[in-house]
Amino acid sequence: MTSLAPDLMHLPELDFASAAYAERPFQVLAKWAQRWKIARSARGVELLDYDLCRRAIIDRRLGTGHPKLMDVLGLPEGRPLDYKRNSISFFNRGDRRRDLRRPMTKLMSEDGIAAFRSEISGTVQRVIDAVPTDRPVDLISTLCDPVPSAVYCYWIGAPFEDAEFVARTSHTVQQVHTRNPDHTPAIVAAFEALIDYADKHIAARRDNLSNDLLSDMIRAEQAGQLTEHDLRNWVIKLAEANTDNSSHQIALAVVELASRPDIWARLHADPSLIPQAVREVMRYHPRTISTSREVLEDCEIGGVPLPAGTPILANIGATHWDDRYYSEPDVFDIDRTDEPPHMNFGGGIFSCIGRFAVTAEVEDVIRLLSARHPKLQIGEVEFDHSPMFSLVTKLIAQLDN
Ligand code: HEM
Repeated sequence: MTSLAPDLMHLPELDFASAAYAERPFQVLAKWAQRWKIARSARGVELLDYDLCRRAIIDRRLGTGHPKLMDVLGLPEGRPLDYKRNSISFFNRGDRRRDLRRPMTKLMSEDGIAAFRSEISGTVQRVIDAVPTDRPVDLISTLCDPVPSAVYCYWIGAPFEDAEFVARTSHTVQQVHTRNPDHTPAIVAAFEALIDYADKHIAARRDNLSNDLLSDMIRAEQAGQLTEHDLRNWVIKLAEANTDNSSHQIALAVVELASRPDIWARLHADPSLIPQAVREVMRYHPRTISTSREVLEDCEIGGVPLPAGTPILANIGATHWDDRYYSEPDVFDIDRTDEPPHMNFGGGIFSCIGRFAVTAEVEDVIRLLSARHPKLQIGEVEFDHSPMFSLVTKLIAQLDN
């Protein structure tokens, strides 16, 4: 629970723990957005309007809420906290953040990822080739987790077989976002394992540069764009940010697209529709429901004065289902054209570094599945929606019938 300045207690309170939110999160968010642009919750001040969220996400008076998250979790002194303090997530606006992001945003830009595209596609194909097609299978463990973690293995020159370790540790360290200190010992242990893993692979790659991402990162270090410490922190950060988010978004895309036979048939017949279909998935059912900021200096947003230190949550999920910005937002429509871009990857100087990579992964999964398995049947599906994220907790499907 975050204590807000008394002046903010007049804001309407949102209840993310309600049964209604658990059942229909996006409808509930949209209803809140119809009534209020700004509200409060146990997390802090909640922004519900698209323009307000968009502006807050790039507002220079707002910084990262990550350090407070570590306080809430009570992460003890040691290598994991040292990594966190020195990784990109802890830096606010300024030279250090800019210098840390610059080499990575270049390597993982749209053009940068295009250079890895055929390896990403090959990795996706290898994972899909191994999924049994003649019976119902758990697609989370056979497809959604292995795709991003196997791509990470490719990036750092690790064997494909390490994908399971990468997926497991990524899922565990992402539990920082639960804000629940019960998870802290497991998070610390997973970070310890990831740090050793990163050190091992960096050492191996130094003597054997090739054309993968880690080799390019080492070249950036040799060119003086990253320090040795920054390089290591980025290798850990990419593992941390990679699998968990991507796995859930892949699952969301498979569910939303393959469970609509007319759309699945269109994608099979015309794969050029896949990028716009994936964009609509990220609008209609985004992995990111909110992203956080913290007020750096006293300021005002939407007419509400906000003291420094106030946690701010931009409710991306609410904006995606607001009929003032998207016509018939509760209709899944891959032919949308003139509506504002989704905010699944945040924006500005904190925007997601992996957005082009993961978009390529999701598109490749849908391209291969819709081409090879036009009769794919979605079976049991279970979702969970925290105030922060959409999670697919169960996904059973049969690829061929
Ligand atoms: C569908 C999957 C993903 C989603 C939905 C997602 C979403 C996000 C969001 C919302 C942010 C915060 C942006 C903001 O507050 O403005 C973020 C930050 C970040 N993401 Fe992703 N992400 C995904 C996959 C990835 C992947 C695959 C990687 C790397 C391989 C990655 C690396 C990062 C990093 C490093 C940051 C921190 C950027 C910074 O603080 O400067 N993400 N992501």
